[in-house]
Amino acid sequence: MLLTTGGLPGLFEREVLFFGGKGGVGKTTCAAATALAASRAGRKVLLVSTDPAHSTSDIFERPIGPEPVPLLPNLWGLEIDAATESARYVREVKDRVRVLFGHSILKEAYKQIDLAASMPGAEEVALFDRMGGLIRGEDTRFDLIVFDTAPTGHTLRLVKMPELMDAWIRALTRSRRAMLGVEGDDKEDPILVSLRDRFDRLQTLRARLMSGRTTAFVLVLIPERLPIEETARAIAQLDDTGVKVGGLVVNRVLPAETSDAFLQARRAQERVYLDEIAARFGTRPRIFLPQYPRDVYGLASLGPVAEAMAAAAGVSR
Ligand SMILES: Nc1ncnc2c1ncn2[C@@H]1O[C@H](COP(=O)(O)OP(=O)(O)OP(=O)(O)O)[C@@H](O)[C@H]1O
Ligand SMILES: [Mg+2]
Repeated sequence: MLLTTGGLPGLFEREVLFFGGKGGVGKTTCAAATALAASRAGRKVLLVSTDPAHSTSDIFERPIGPEPVPLLPNLWGLEIDAATESARYVREVKDRVRVLFGHSILKEAYKQIDLAASMPGAEEVALFDRMGGLIRGEDTRFDLIVFDTAPTGHTLRLVKMPELMDAWIRALTRSRRAMLGVEGDDKEDPILVSLRDRFDRLQTLRARLMSGRTTAFVLVLIPERLPIEETARAIAQLDDTGVKVGGLVVNRVLPAETSDAFLQARRAQERVYLDEIAARFGTRPRIFLPQYPRDVYGLASLGPVAEAMAAAAGVSR
């Protein structure tokens, strides 16, 4: 059973896909299935997990770490987390600062950096920095980056980050210029050059995030009350940020034909939610995935989900 409503055409042609949604609705399953299906369709795909729980390694039944590892032909996996990225970020900043400052103030500069790194939100910035590089397509081995994200709130904060960082970099640039007392030409000052560089990278990132041709956010939900509410909130926030909603995956839909009284009753309840989904998200492309008899774990059980995603994307094998 695969009830599609127009499917999610062109899904595999994007360069960046995010899978978001409430906890436990099937984000990891759908992200992994999509990555697998797109890799089978010939795209070079990197599946990135940003969720500290990292269940991609469970699905592919092998360890995945903070650098891309080959999983299958055309498919790589990567698991990144805030703490590791923060440590990497601090190392990189210290390396950069070492070039800029003399030995005498280096110790004090390092102390300031460590202090900044321990501030609330710093780890998130570091994680975002790593994601930013991936979104900008800096690793040219891949045509498509599929992000399996942590539950929605966290991810939407990341999507909003360019806006916040933009204001922050502008302010730093202004105060640095005021300090130097220069007009116009920033090329002489290494700090202004570095800020300019950050600013340019941020603009590229933003452009790629906001372009519907490059990036799409797929919202996964199940036909129940709270996931529907969370989806409505996420859509409103994404619309507000300017990131395109690529479509909805309504997961775990019960089989229509059943003689079992319990399942029939459950199905009737589900009908109410499916109607509500149609009423509230009628204009959004969406697909439905069935409730499978068992957990989706390992390649064998991921296969049918991957085929459903390929069919939805309009790719037949
Ligand atoms: N259609 C389905 N049929 C049967 N089991 C499913 C289906 N979709 C997902 N599952 C199972 O439900 C569980 C949760 O799915 P998954 O890990 O993909 O959700 P998630 O949204 O990534 O969760 P989390 O928020 O914890 O990261 C897993 O055990 C998965 O195998
Ligand atoms: Mg998950």
